Amino acid sequence: MSAVTPGTSPHGAHHSQHVADAAERRWAYVVISIMAVIVVVMIVTGLHWASMPPSRVETVDVKTLHLRGEFVESNLGTAMASDGTVTVRLVAQQYSFMPPCMVVPAGIPVTFRGTSTDAIHGFIVGTTNANTMLVPGFVATFTTSFPKAGEHLMPCHEYCGTGHEGMWARVQVLPQEEFLAKARGGERLSCVHR
Ligand code: CUA
Repeated sequence: MSAVTPGTSPHGAHHSQHVADAAERRWAYVVISIMAVIVVVMIVTGLHWASMPPSRVETVDVKTLHLRGEFVESNLGTAMASDGTVTVRLVAQQYSFMPPCMVVPAGIPVTFRGTSTDAIHGFIVGTTNANTMLVPGFVATFTTSFPKAGEHLMPCHEYCGTGHEGMWARVQVLPQEEFLAKARGGERLSCVHR
């Protein structure tokens, strides 16, 4: 039996062509399955988590942020509306969050609404799924709930300058009864000690 060098005999050429076809087919299957996984992930997140691409982007004027509208200082912190919905409004700036300590209830959905006055900041609350970027000129919003009472650290997680490591806030999760007792007055709540 003679050794066949690929490409030198009709049989060898045919053989290497066959190997190349098989390899290409294998890669095609890999690519198709990656695409299938991505489509499944999109369908699952879309249907199950009701999430979607940000089609309704809310903007806010950085120049008048401190002067009027939703993000004036007196409106920051936690508010409970008359229908019982809880909203936390916050502003990020180099290198702090306002308010630096936020109060939320356990077991009630909480909507965060935040923006930034200068650079891109971000935050994550402890080990929860509360995690977003804060971009100047845009309002970041998401809703989450905290299953149990306790305290979380809320660091800035987008590099925003030399003071980035020192930029963090605290989130206090209060038992539902305690929170509702405090929130009933309707004023803005925070756990900033004065
Ligand atoms: Cu703000 Cu990093």
